[in-house]
Amino acid sequence: MANLPLAKKVAKELGVELGKVEIIRFADTEARVWMEEKVAGQNVVLLQPFSPPVDQNLVEFLLLADALRRGKPKKMVAVVPYFGYARQDKIFRPGEALSAQVVANLIEGACFEKLITIHLHSLGILDFFKIPVVHLSTASLLSQTLARLKGKNENWVAVAPDKVALAEVKKVAESFGFAAAYVEKTRDLSQKDKPKALGLVGEIKGKNVFMFDDLSSTGGTIVGGAKLLKEAGAKKVMAALTHMVVPEAAERIVQEESVDKLLITDTINYTGPKLKKMEIISVAPLLAEAIRKSI
Ligand code: R5P
Repeated sequence: MANLPLAKKVAKELGVELGKVEIIRFADTEARVWMEEKVAGQNVVLLQPFSPPVDQNLVEFLLLADALRRGKPKKMVAVVPYFGYARQDKIFRPGEALSAQVVANLIEGACFEKLITIHLHSLGILDFFKIPVVHLSTASLLSQTLARLKGKNENWVAVAPDKVALAEVKKVAESFGFAAAYVEKTRDLSQKDKPKALGLVGEIKGKNVFMFDDLSSTGGTIVGGAKLLKEAGAKKVMAALTHMVVPEAAERIVQEESVDKLLITDTINYTGPKLKKMEIISVAPLLAEAIRKSI
């Protein structure tokens, strides 16, 4: 299971027990899953983020779904707190795979009646599904933390580290009455994991910044954005990320002096060291509420 701590928290919120399942790995790394729980006639929820090792967790999810389906449950709901492969949501160059659609097809093919997921990289991914998808935002969850941490009468601006992230950032900006701004970012497709912050669109000077994005895997986007923001005269920079995909990215972000605080959620089980500047906020209540409404 890719995120047992979150599954336990969600089960606790719902007042239910986690089902018994055995997963073993053979010497050749193949998995064997055994659904020990009897699920006939029951509503079942399978929670698995497609976090690293992404392919392994995705296949494990598909095997678990098959085992569940064979047990003849009443209704099967997939909860994928982190939807991997979401960044390949378009054909950027002829010859590429449309990976996000491939993953969507796999989820649908596994006989789920509904998908619950959180903060997709782009809303276009919803169009790849025929089954209903509940797409949850972490904007209000992370904003509650910002409301607790920010001082009275402080001047804040909500910033997207790239234009794609602007829609979610505007939700935060609107809930507080802040202005929204964004960093202009570019990527050279021939070089992986090397984003470049080019400039800022919006008024930053003398303001505190809440920078909000879907995910971080190398930390490069947030580090580059924070440096640019401080150069442009920002006071504090608080970075908030729904999915901390690679723990080393969190370490890189907090080591950057331009970043004053890092907020992440537990859509992915964080396995790195405890970091002073970082706070982890649980999405369990958000998921439990969505599951209650879906069953
Ligand atoms: C991409 O557009 C995403 O929204 C993130 O900004 C990006 O993937 C972050 O990756 P990294 O931490 O490697 O810069």
